[in-house]
Amino acid sequence: MSTELNGGKKKPNSFNASKVTTQTVVDMKFRGEAISMLTAYDYTMAKLVDAANVDIILVGDSASNVMAGNETTLPMTLDHMIYHTSCVVKGVDRALVVADLPFMSYQVTTKEALISAGRMMKEAGAHAIKVEGGAPIVDTVKRIVDAGIPVMGHLGLTPQSIYKFGTYKVRATEDLEAEQLMSDAIRLQEAGCFGLVLEKIPSKLSKKVTEELDIPTIGIGAGPHCDGQVLVLHDMLGLNKDFHPRFLRRYADLHTDIVNAVGNYVKDVKSRDFPNDQEQYN
Ligand code: KIV
Repeated sequence: MSTELNGGKKKPNSFNASKVTTQTVVDMKFRGEAISMLTAYDYTMAKLVDAANVDIILVGDSASNVMAGNETTLPMTLDHMIYHTSCVVKGVDRALVVADLPFMSYQVTTKEALISAGRMMKEAGAHAIKVEGGAPIVDTVKRIVDAGIPVMGHLGLTPQSIYKFGTYKVRATEDLEAEQLMSDAIRLQEAGCFGLVLEKIPSKLSKKVTEELDIPTIGIGAGPHCDGQVLVLHDMLGLNKDFHPRFLRRYADLHTDIVNAVGNYVKDVKSRDFPNDQEQYN
């Protein structure tokens, strides 16, 4: 078995049967087994998420908001995403690592898209890439898949198009947009996508799309009928107090925990309680 996965940076023989592959997640859909997906952008968080047995780690371009403090995902560059993805890959033993191609790294020409996808695989060691959009990128998806690179699609609220939408509201509530979304989903599957993120669309529509497709759908704000669910890690851990959309379930309140822990450290330093006798070298 090859030892050259992950751009040759991982330990030898890291490819084994317990690793999640694109085929694993397609098989999970057929077994009716729900697929878990979370974002991660760095080595430490990726190691934690992988240890908790998440199936897919998405190096999302939401790193733009979460890590860089930008308002949108648009400022993210391919080099930024390659950096984040290479950090994540080093922390992962089991999960499938999918990396977002950022805004304008795949929309201009198919050739440029293929070069971007290739860099993400070669330089970062991603296992697959994700792109946003339907009909306009179908040929590009096909070309990338033909080159041996697995592609995940993303329909519904696609944040790279936020200036076209003008709002983060639920998409495809009207028949015309819902029909377009269904047609896009089928075309992305035909182009070779192994999976599809559905973001912020009505549950009824995501159910129809999920039933229609052979590839798994992964929902965020798309209801319970998708084959899997994805959340932004920092949101579900409660690191961000200001973001509370209806679809978000918080599994921790790390904002409070971290502010308290840091506050206690500051208090102990100021009172000279830290370091004590055991916390120094004599
Ligand atoms: O960038 C991201 O985190 C995403 C998820 C919200 C699906 O695309």
